[in-house]
Amino acid sequence: MPGLLLGDEFPNFEADTTIGRIKFHDFLGNSWGILFSHPRDFTPVCTTELACAAKISDEFKKRGVKMIALSIDSVEDHRNWSKDVMAFNSEAESALPFPIIADDKRELSVQLGMLDPDERDKDGIPLTARCVFVIGPDKKLKLSILYPATTGRNFNELLRVIDSLQLTAQKKVATPVDWKPGDKVMVIPSLSEAEATALFPNGVTTKELPSGKKYLRYTQP
Ligand code: BEZ
Repeated sequence: MPGLLLGDEFPNFEADTTIGRIKFHDFLGNSWGILFSHPRDFTPVCTTELACAAKISDEFKKRGVKMIALSIDSVEDHRNWSKDVMAFNSEAESALPFPIIADDKRELSVQLGMLDPDERDKDGIPLTARCVFVIGPDKKLKLSILYPATTGRNFNELLRVIDSLQLTAQKKVATPVDWKPGDKVMVIPSLSEAEATALFPNGVTTKELPSGKKYLRYTQP
């Protein structure tokens, strides 16, 4: 069964977090948002992920993206675990720079399709997988990814993805494989040659292909 689909309005859930009770849309305000879930507090891979997210949180802030984590433990556990995470970063005196949602009843994890059937706690109850949701300022889902509990994510890749999402929300372009900001981008296929010429004053270059079809069009945004 599909859960949330791209373009769906993200649920305006209420939840307890390490910064108190929130209503998700109010928490986001007019910002972009990234919600990332974790299997459990006080686990090794999750600790490395949260530590990395904390280390590069200024990069998310620069892009106007509000961060929030989630796992199926209590606020008290989250607060204690946050201290371990910051100590892992050798920043024991600093607070974790984003809140963590306490989904100890797993209600949100079920609603958002985040449970990993292959990873269970000692009572046999599924843990949360490593989900990432990126939500636009219009509160719609722009990206979702789902890793199993046993594979840690790459938070620098998430920044790259957000750069692409924010660029392609503004301009009629798409970003090719391994694209990074400053690289050339592709003109989207639905634009005619005349429209592309008018829209991209930096010019459009088209790569010749054996098919003779003129679909590989680059421009500098
Ligand atoms: C971890 O974060 O290390 C982890 C959590 C659940 C299953 C496997 C690994």
